[in-house]
Amino acid sequence: MFAQIHGSQKFPLCVCKGICTRLIFGRILMKLINQMDHSWPSLVSLKNASQTRDRPSKGKFRDYSIKAFNAVQMAGFEAYIHGLEIPDLALKTVLDKTLDIVQSRYPHLFVTYDWLLQESKHLAEGSKELMAIQYDLPTRLFQRMLTESQEIYPKYTMALWENGADSLQEAQRQMLDDVFEKIGIEDGDTVLDLGCGWGASSNYLLQKFPHAQVTGLNLSHEQCNYMRDKMADPTSTLSSGRFTLCEQDFNQANFDQRFDKIIAIGLFEHVGNLTKSFEQLASFLTDNGKVFLHFISSRLPHNTYSPYLNRYIFPNMRIWSYEAVPQHNQHLKTLDQWYLRGHNYAQTLQCWLQNFDQHQEEIRTLELGMNYARFRRIWRLYLILCIAYFNMDRGNLLGNAQYLLGHAD
Ligand SMILES: C[S@@+](CC[C@H](N)C(=O)[O-])C[C@H]1O[C@@H](n2cnc3c(N)ncnc32)[C@H](O)[C@@H]1O
Repeated sequence: MFAQIHGSQKFPLCVCKGICTRLIFGRILMKLINQMDHSWPSLVSLKNASQTRDRPSKGKFRDYSIKAFNAVQMAGFEAYIHGLEIPDLALKTVLDKTLDIVQSRYPHLFVTYDWLLQESKHLAEGSKELMAIQYDLPTRLFQRMLTESQEIYPKYTMALWENGADSLQEAQRQMLDDVFEKIGIEDGDTVLDLGCGWGASSNYLLQKFPHAQVTGLNLSHEQCNYMRDKMADPTSTLSSGRFTLCEQDFNQANFDQRFDKIIAIGLFEHVGNLTKSFEQLASFLTDNGKVFLHFISSRLPHNTYSPYLNRYIFPNMRIWSYEAVPQHNQHLKTLDQWYLRGHNYAQTLQCWLQNFDQHQEEIRTLELGMNYARFRRIWRLYLILCIAYFNMDRGNLLGNAQYLLGHAD
């Protein structure tokens, strides 16, 4: 029988080959899983599971299945980074199908590591590493990928497409208009823009409200250099004298004034402690002041993250559950909240991917900290993977959360 199945190969030889292949494959997989175990924090212990209301997993088998799922996906992603040839369409199809199956049948595989369920020690962990890997990359890369104009400087967060915008710049403008309306910016307000990027929100706000004053806080030296250039450029609103720049870590932020409005657009993906952050924000706010938070959030009942993005793009990232903010009402209370569906982000990322591809010749000449072929693969996979994430369940599982907060009573 064996001789028939395996053609001309002799029975003992083919059985030996089969066993060896399985042993080698098994060893590689186990090594991989062990390696992941060391580099990643351990899963919540089973003993604590019942105390952790948010945690859907029950049982050792599920813990192992999460580890195995992460090990297998990381092995696939790393094969891609190392040169596995796979056309975009096939890659997108595999990601869409896999995520569709996981989110509908096995949502517990979206990892619930203990560090994701607990608040971190500092407001934001590993900020320097994050700057080095991500935000201090050359500004030219982001100018090309995100685009820029006099009105909208590079903006590295979701644009709003669902109201009919027909270009990225228009969709970014609509997003900022929507934010300013929800927080109720008034001309003459003093505004703090936390994690202000290249100054897109600050610049647009100062253009729209000619008596407003904005202070921008950002730890990225590269991004601050971009804003310093604008502050010296008479054609930029950042040079109006109404903009103050603080190159500083949110962890150490301190101001000698209080603000009528505080906006944080795209910062809280890097924040691990809401309790301490809200205490800090409350101390920066005038008595009737308002805070507006806007960040990537999931409608899973627990916080989550992406092993790939955490390792290659945004170290120490965190995707807060949509319900997390209203549960932290000690220093600030939630007055209103909104969920913007992920397809808005998928469309934004699609534009970024197209721009990234279109400007390859220029981007390859930049100082990217690694060889260009590797960088290109890491970044294309990042953008393609995020498109798939935000398209899950037609944008209902992952999107942007927005919260309007005021002082707690
Ligand atoms: C996703 S970008 C969003 C930028 C901008 N708000 C926008 O909408 O384009 C996150 C920003 O937060 C900044 N950031 C991250 N961690 C920070 C920290 N610990 N302290 C200060 N800024 C930080 C980054 O440098 C970056 O400018």
